[in-house]
Amino acid sequence: MSPGSVRTARPRVAVVGATGLVGRTIIEILEGRNFPLSVLDAVASLDSLGTPIEFGTQMLKVRALDSYDFHGVDLAFFALETGLSEQYVPRALEAGCCVIDNSRVYRMDPGVPLVVPEVNASVLRITPAPRLIANPNCSTIPLAIVLRCLDDLAGVVRIDLSTYQAVSGAGRMGIEILARESRNRLSGQEVVPDPLFATVPIAFNVIPQIDDFESSGYTREEMKIVHELRKILDRPDLEVNPTAVRVPVFFGHAAAVHAELHQPLDPGVLRDALAEIPAVEVRDRPEAGGYPTPQTDAARHDQVFVGRIRSDLSRPNDINFWLVSDNVRKGAALNAVQIGECLLAG
Ligand SMILES: NC(=O)c1ccc[n+]([C@@H]2O[C@H](COP(=O)([O-])OP(=O)(O)OC[C@H]3O[C@@H](n4cnc5c(N)ncnc54)[C@H](OP(=O)(O)O)[C@@H]3O)[C@@H](O)[C@H]2O)c1
Repeated sequence: MSPGSVRTARPRVAVVGATGLVGRTIIEILEGRNFPLSVLDAVASLDSLGTPIEFGTQMLKVRALDSYDFHGVDLAFFALETGLSEQYVPRALEAGCCVIDNSRVYRMDPGVPLVVPEVNASVLRITPAPRLIANPNCSTIPLAIVLRCLDDLAGVVRIDLSTYQAVSGAGRMGIEILARESRNRLSGQEVVPDPLFATVPIAFNVIPQIDDFESSGYTREEMKIVHELRKILDRPDLEVNPTAVRVPVFFGHAAAVHAELHQPLDPGVLRDALAEIPAVEVRDRPEAGGYPTPQTDAARHDQVFVGRIRSDLSRPNDINFWLVSDNVRKGAALNAVQIGECLLAG
């Protein structure tokens, strides 16, 4: 294997942030996919020291990150918030470890590949082999897969989209807040929003803001979608106009997308092409329930589900579709593990 990539075919692996939503799911997926590792270390904060985590027949004991030694670790999956990734990823790299990072810190660094294996795994096959790989945002990953197909079929000029994003996109905190607010609302108690999450309640509500506002009036979450799609698809000219919305759903992000194409495209042709992609499942019948939803389709599943494919009523080159996928699985943990598999495959 080339210098710099994962050093061995049966690596020692660390999952950092192992007690969080993404970290726990990475561990579950490593087991489910029989990832060929020799040793797995679960790492989190000092508060979780010794917490047991099941991995197959083993019971791992969580180690504390601040005293964890990355020397001897071949591959680390980081599932920490931005500031902690900034602090600890360099330490892991210095110790010779290969890192797949889930935070936003390194995604737009021109020297760091941002990878959706179904779309641009080829960027991993460079010399020297990359030792730090960024995992994209949870809304970007499923979009990139569908847009790659659409771009190949008819050339995408522009997309206008609204996302409908589950509270788990904000980690464990989002789930706890939606559960608490819902309980309080249904039992007639006062609902006090948690400013760490939003300044208005999320239970029984819809919030057109995820992450902070930028000077343009778009939010940082929206701009992640713009910049990351352009980088992954290698389409710096792609016009992307997003509105990111938080909805009171526990798991599964959705997006309603309107795409302007270079040429007309029959919806049936898109349906057939998407159906050929293993990561995609088309559920598209124009009847009640003939479309995917976060709760009934996406949650706990690996595929990107696509439906509501239809031509624009007034513009022959435009097409609409709806997609849903599990933000913690394909939107984060599964994609990260697939990147790890690509690194091992060389
Ligand atoms: N959730 C999603 O859908 C999603 C999708 C794509 C990307 N991401 C990104 O993935 C990362 C993790 O998100 P998440 O949803 O898994 O968050 P989470 O559920 O809140 O988990 C956070 C993890 O960080 C650990 N942690 C917190 N403070 C720490 C410290 N001082 N030292 C060591 N570990 C510490 C926690 O350990 P303790 O339990 O010990 O506190 C926990 O394991 C974030 O960058 C997020 O933006 C998330």
